[in-house]
Amino acid sequence: MASYVFMKILESAPQRYDMGINLISFGQDRRMQQEIVEEYVHESNKVLEIGCGTGTLAISCAKKGASVVAFDKSSQMLAIAERKVREHNLIEKIQLEEMGAIEMEKAFNDNTFDRIVSTLVFSELYADEQKYVLSQAYRILRPNGLIIIADEVKPRSSWKHIVHSSIRIPLALITYLLTQTSTKTLEDIKGPMTNAGFKIICERRSFIDSFALFVGQKE
Ligand SMILES: C[S@@+](CC[C@H](N)C(=O)[O-])C[C@H]1O[C@@H](n2cnc3c(N)ncnc32)[C@H](O)[C@@H]1O
Repeated sequence: MASYVFMKILESAPQRYDMGINLISFGQDRRMQQEIVEEYVHESNKVLEIGCGTGTLAISCAKKGASVVAFDKSSQMLAIAERKVREHNLIEKIQLEEMGAIEMEKAFNDNTFDRIVSTLVFSELYADEQKYVLSQAYRILRPNGLIIIADEVKPRSSWKHIVHSSIRIPLALITYLLTQTSTKTLEDIKGPMTNAGFKIICERRSFIDSFALFVGQKE
């Protein structure tokens, strides 16, 4: 409920989103996005971004030469993304779509994309939505294609959990007061990824275990 309220407020003030997400994630969201682009996105790739928000990751993929389709359900987030895409002269490389993940079945053909990327989105989806999105991702990826998911997670050891909470709770409060931005953590995603057919080829954690990157391959 709280995260739903946070997201509604965030959607009404997306101009503060980039600053807010940097603060609340200690810069980890943007760092993981850089890692995704550096390691997994290639010039010839056709990339789909699920929940692109203000378009930062889509822009980085396109700057590397990839063709990108990026969708989000929030028209206000997309308005910021559109402005940023124009400012970077990437209109021809990035197609932005206003749609919900639930529309993936009718929006995309089988075996279309080399990469599907999504940061800080799966934690906002219910278990049923995650299952649906992962099954659609499997269908629309080309053979050997990769899905790359990065999100905030709960630290595994109790001392890291305590350190993380003691930093994050006050920071989350300040961030929320300044930017009306917040996030919640992703529960187990490897199980649903495996159930959808993906082979997990990488799991990486950073910053006291609180941010994670999962890479699944369509076999
Ligand atoms: C926390 S933001 C993350 C944005 C961006 N990926 C990033 O890392 O900065 C979550 C985004 O997911 C979008 N979103 C959440 N659920 C969605 C759904 N079911 N379909 C499409 N977009 C969704 C929201 O509108 C929001 O822009």
